[in-house]
Formats: sequence, C-alpha cells, structure tokens
Amino acid sequence: MLLRDIELKDDSPKEFFLDKHVKFLNNYAKNKDNSYEQIMVEYLKMNGIYWTITALKLADSSIENDIRQEIIELIRSCKHPNGGISAAPRHDPHILYTLSAIQILVSFDVNLESSNPEESVIDVNKTVEFIMSLQNDDGSFNGDHWGEVDVRFTFCSIASLALLKRLDAIDLDRAIDFVMKCYNQIDGAFGCRPNSESHSGLTYCCLGSLSIAGQLHRIDADRLGWWLAERQLPSGGLNGRPEKLPDLCYSWWVLSSLAIIGRLHWINKQKLLCFIMACQDNETGGFSDRPGNMVDPFHTLFGITGLSLLSHEYFDDSTIDHKQNDQDDRIDIEKLRKIIQKVNPVFCMLDQTITKMGIRIQRLS
Ligand code: FPP
Ligand code: ZN
Repeated sequence: MLLRDIELKDDSPKEFFLDKHVKFLNNYAKNKDNSYEQIMVEYLKMNGIYWTITALKLADSSIENDIRQEIIELIRSCKHPNGGISAAPRHDPHILYTLSAIQILVSFDVNLESSNPEESVIDVNKTVEFIMSLQNDDGSFNGDHWGEVDVRFTFCSIASLALLKRLDAIDLDRAIDFVMKCYNQIDGAFGCRPNSESHSGLTYCCLGSLSIAGQLHRIDADRLGWWLAERQLPSGGLNGRPEKLPDLCYSWWVLSSLAIIGRLHWINKQKLLCFIMACQDNETGGFSDRPGNMVDPFHTLFGITGLSLLSHEYFDDSTIDHKQNDQDDRIDIEKLRKIIQKVNPVFCMLDQTITKMGIRIQRLS
C-alpha cells in the first residue's frame, strides 16, 4: 500500500519558540473585528478564543485584564434566551460554542453560580436546559435545533455538564449506550455515528465521554491502542485515519486518546517531537498543520498540548538512551516540562484547573 507522508527537512526547527508563540497568541486575542482574518473566522470565533486562551495558559502566560474583560463581555453577548451560546453575536447557538464558552469561563475562574446578574455571565440553569433539550430518545445528542447527530455533540454536552457540575441533568447511561453503538469492533476505535468509519478525532470524543462517565471498561484498550499507534507515520507525525497525511492536530486527538487508555508510550516520542517542532514558524510564531504551511491558533494549541502530553505523561527510559548514544540532536524533554504546563487529556484545559474543581476523570493503566 502506498504510504502518504511528508519528509522533514534537516534544518527544521528543533527548539520550542515560547516567546514567539505567546506573542502570536496575544496578537490573535487582541485582534479587533475589522480585520479581514477576523471576519473570515467569525463563524468559529468562540472556538478561536478557547484555543488561544488555553494555549496561553499552557504556556504559563498571564492574560491581560482588559483582554479577559473583553472576552467575558463577548460571551455575554453570545448567550441566547434558550441558554445556548453562539460562535459570535447574532449567530445561532450551538453546543460546540457552548462548551468553548464554558471552558473559557472556567479557565478564567469566573463564578458561574453567582446570583448577582451583574456578575453572572451565563444563566447556568438555562444553559443546562439547552443541553438537556439536545438529547434524543436513543441517548444521542444534536448539535443544535437543526438536528444533526454526532458523537462530537455527545462529548461537548457531557464535558459542559461536568464543568457545570450538572451531569445528573441528562440520561448519562443512555448517552454512553449510544457512544458504544459507534464503537467498531474490528479496530477498537469509534466513528461519528453507528457503523461509521473509525476516526481518531471522534475516538477522542468517545473516550472523553466514557472517561467522564467512568465507563472505559467497555472497550478493548489493547486493540484501540494498536490502531492509534498505527497512526504514526515514518515522518513521526500522526494521521487521523489510515491513508491520510500527517497533521499536527492529531498530536492531540491521537495522543490524548492514548493517554486516557494508558498507552501513550506505544508511539515513538522523539520522532513525534521532531514533527511537532518542525510545524513551528520561527518568524511569526505559531504552529501549522504541516511544516511550512500557514500557522493558526487551532494548530498552535494542539502543538502545545502534544508537547505537554509528551513531556508530562510519557514516561520511558530516554535518560538511559542519552547516556548510551550520541543523542545531541534529541529534543530536551526535561526543559519542555518546565516551560509547558500539564494538560488534562479529557477536557483539554490546564490539569490543575480540573483538579482544583474536584472533577475526576477515569484513566486506564
Ligand atoms: C478532526 O476534525 C477532529 C474531530 C472530528 C474531533 C472534534 C472534537 C470536538 C469538536 C470536541 C471538542 C474538542 C476539544 C479539544 C475540547 P477534522 O474535520 O479536522 O477531520 P479531518 O482531519 O478528517 O478532516
Ligand atoms: Zn489539523
């Protein structure tokens, strides 16, 4: 079979450009509505802010107070009477943006339970009602009131309610039964709906849902681990499904899945590190999907989360390797661990935020 892959150049970046990334992310967060790019991405503005804020937090960078206030005001102006939240003002509410808004508010440590209308950015009861209204009789979730069903929406609903501490509002057992209908016995991975092709982005959504619900025992972790490990190509990068090119965002979808099922060490760490580093732009800062392409905040977040998982969660004997071989061009993982904060593999937020809130996730070993 012809393997689709790319080749890394010898002069690809090998160090992490922290300051440049922070500058790139801050510029994105400060961008005003009148720029061309900002108009182009308006339909996913709320996601864009979540990607940017999370990446800055993982890079241990403080967020200026006026940016924080501006973002909180934006979320206020994106909430709808039905409790859902939209990507931008005057857009329709959707669970994808509702989760991003909740993640941002939780990261900002905003008091969501405040009874003072001045303080309360969203009406939690209404938002919970919105999420409840998306669940169907078979346990699945629509993304909005147009009716598309996808396990992405199941994950967004479950993760939102877990962050709001209101998981009891939905029929969680039925939601998980639907997730298990999307499980493909043949490779151990998941598709977007029953009998759909396995995809690692959707596998992350299903594992995240199972982890929050404490139901990971229902999968064959070894079979899934094999399929996920096979996503690594000779370039070191990961693809989303067989015969696809590597893409940096799969350093999140695949690695977080492996981390949840306790099999992160089934991929080659140094090769993936080299691929991730090569996706940086050493002039503008930021990461792109593949070396040499245009950078964006989505791939910048997932470059940083990939590095976070590899440096905080992947335990191996690389220190022994160091002594035995001439490994001068190896990427210094100890240094990365000091610079990049630990990410939570289910919520894709600072791990300490999730721990501090007392939210527990299930992990396999
Ligand atoms: C790949 O999409 C990724 C997915 C299908 C998963 C998306 C997951 C969510 C929206 C849940 C929320 C996520 C987080 C991190 C909290 P793609 O369209 O790029 O797939 P392709 O590579 O096959 O085109
Ligand atoms: Zn991508």
